[in-house]
Amino acid sequence: MTTLALRRPDDWHLHLRDGAHMAAVLPFTAARFARALVMPNLKPPMTTTAALGEYRARILAALPEGADFEPWMTLYLTDSTPPDEIRRARDSGFVLGAKLYPAGATTHSDAGVTSIENTWPALEAMAEHGLVLQVHGEVTEPEVDVFDRETAFIDRVLTRILERVPGLKVVFEHITTAAAAEFVRSARGGLAATITPQHLLLNRNAIFEGGVRPHHYCLPLLKRERDREALLAAATGNDQRFFLGTDSAPHARHTKEAPCGCAGIFSAHAAIELYAEAFEQAGRLDRLEAFASERGADYYGLPRNEQRISLSRERWTVPDHYPFGDDELVPLRSGTSLAWRVVPA
Ligand code: DOR
Ligand code: ZN
Repeated sequence: MTTLALRRPDDWHLHLRDGAHMAAVLPFTAARFARALVMPNLKPPMTTTAALGEYRARILAALPEGADFEPWMTLYLTDSTPPDEIRRARDSGFVLGAKLYPAGATTHSDAGVTSIENTWPALEAMAEHGLVLQVHGEVTEPEVDVFDRETAFIDRVLTRILERVPGLKVVFEHITTAAAAEFVRSARGGLAATITPQHLLLNRNAIFEGGVRPHHYCLPLLKRERDREALLAAATGNDQRFFLGTDSAPHARHTKEAPCGCAGIFSAHAAIELYAEAFEQAGRLDRLEAFASERGADYYGLPRNEQRISLSRERWTVPDHYPFGDDELVPLRSGTSLAWRVVPA
């Protein structure tokens, strides 16, 4: 096969940042995806519908001429998000849900939730108003091994959310383990999961290949090969509950190549191409469209996109870095070649 045409995909988990950084990365996503769910972990965090509305307007204003791209937003959940804010979010027409960052779990999560007990009023309001909870599924207790934090989150927090608020839809974001995929399959209806390209293509050896590799550091961390294989089986299988969310998370090069480097892998420059590579490895390019362009829209109750995109089997080399405001950005697979290229419409 030399070309692959599919319904235009959506990215259900994306970090765009703001200002010049946003302007630098947004064109990559808008060239590939029709819609994205934009994460709210900015400084300050996007805790109100009003702030999200202004942020969304800045995104629309930063789009390249002629781009056809729709940003969807999610509220940054805190210990004190009032049920009224949930109602305002629903009424806005551009907010799909709220994002649970356990406080301290990841980049800009310090204003996040310190105890799930504090969120029951907001979560109940979300169930009532039909908003979806997006979850960063890792516990933050320092004594828990960093590779076990997702599994501990399932036992200590996620199970309780699903039981306590039965009507709530929950997306377990960027799952990284075989255990998480298994949990999603066995859980009550309404639970789904996104999977990133890096967790389909790499295992944790990639963080330490010949030396420490800061550009392979993201949270949750890459896991074992058997976890990668389980995620690839979930993504390329028939189960509607697994869909695309890149978690593309740009950071300036100097903040990653540092004594205490930031977590986040930038993949927007080649997101659908990277997924195509993973699906091809699994011999399931035929399932890419369902994963990338159908299941997420169906889950969120939005129409599937009508436009199409094409990929051609054409090797190209990813640049060593891209401009990122006054900084530069090192993309996933920098300096190496990729098998698929998006053909301009
Ligand atoms: O690696 C990550 N980077 N994980 C997250 O949860 C946040 C993200 C970011 O915003 O940089
Ligand atoms: Zn994220």
